[in-house]
Amino acid sequence: MKALILAGGAGTRLRPITHTSAKQLVPVANKPVLDYGLEAMAAAGITEVGIIVGATRAEIEAHVGDGSAWGLDVTFVHQPEPLGLAHAVLTAEDFLGEDDFVMYLGDNLLAGGIGEFVAGFERARPTAQILLAQVPNPQEFGVAALDDAGRVTRLVEKPADPPSDLALVGVYLFTSRIFEAAKSIAPSGRGELEITDALQWLIDAGEPVDSHVVSGWWKDTGKLDDLLEANRIVLDATERRVDGSVDDASLAQGKVVLEAGAQLVNSTVRGPTVIGAGARIVDSYVGPYSAIDAGCVVTRSEVEHAIILADSTVTDVQRLEDSLIGRESTVAYQPTRPRAYRLMIGDHSSVGLA
Ligand code: DAU
Repeated sequence: MKALILAGGAGTRLRPITHTSAKQLVPVANKPVLDYGLEAMAAAGITEVGIIVGATRAEIEAHVGDGSAWGLDVTFVHQPEPLGLAHAVLTAEDFLGEDDFVMYLGDNLLAGGIGEFVAGFERARPTAQILLAQVPNPQEFGVAALDDAGRVTRLVEKPADPPSDLALVGVYLFTSRIFEAAKSIAPSGRGELEITDALQWLIDAGEPVDSHVVSGWWKDTGKLDDLLEANRIVLDATERRVDGSVDDASLAQGKVVLEAGAQLVNSTVRGPTVIGAGARIVDSYVGPYSAIDAGCVVTRSEVEHAIILADSTVTDVQRLEDSLIGRESTVAYQPTRPRAYRLMIGDHSSVGLA
């Protein structure tokens, strides 16, 4: 069994962060989303991993290296344009060969890993196996219709009128029959070779396509709200660990992870929260569900329910919530008159002013 992780694509829904960085490397609880996928592969005993990379290939390749940090043997497969999930599969045909493989969307996060899902496939060995989850907004996903016996009868990508509330989770298991299916379909209305259409082709050809409904939580981290929710869920499951320093005037309450070299100075941090290596929290309050990455400095401010990427500073800000701040950013109150918001924000940014 091999794995194919998809880390190409444009990441338009997380702009402006994804103007300068791959969406699969945006951190959840201070760890890139992609790392959770790599860990899931290693835990499932899969070592031969292909990673689809596109425009952000340099950054992804620099981060993953040869995969040995995860005990994996990684091969990068360049997809020149993000022409769809089934197109990504075809791009990796030489790497995958005749082997069965798990395809994992690099921006997905799945509790409990994929071990059980892979074992189920190896026992029954259908032509393909998909994973489904009940969602309140099925029109934003691929959606499955099942018959009374629970067999998949129809798959549609982001339907205006969903046939069920069962969304396709971004983890799929395939035999090499998928190549014939992917070669037989035409691009969709949005110009992509859809994996849902390739699966539908298999179903129409009478091939067995099994489905399982996920028992734990699952998140596609492609949008801000989902990213913040994934951050909440992962932080909830962390254990308290204080490797940094807490001075006498500071409190680290509850499930706080304070990495080595991080400092709390006259501040209160309330978990679940993670503060990265070398970050400094000075005369501030950091509330639950915050992930403050390495090298950040928060001074005379209050931050809660926010993800702040490495080496950013937050100074004299009364209250910052529900936010995602990119790397090396500055958010600061300025006492200069006239009183005004002075902004320098990237393209496709969004700012909520109180
Ligand atoms: O998250 C689950 C959903 O993922 C499924 O329910 C949908 O059926 C499936 O099409 C997919 O929808 P998205 O719109 O979320 O896909 P997205 O374009 O975000 O791509 C998913 C991942 O695959 C992401 O890490 C980027 C990568 N990708 C995407 C395309 C289109 C590639 O590597 N190459 C591509 O050509």
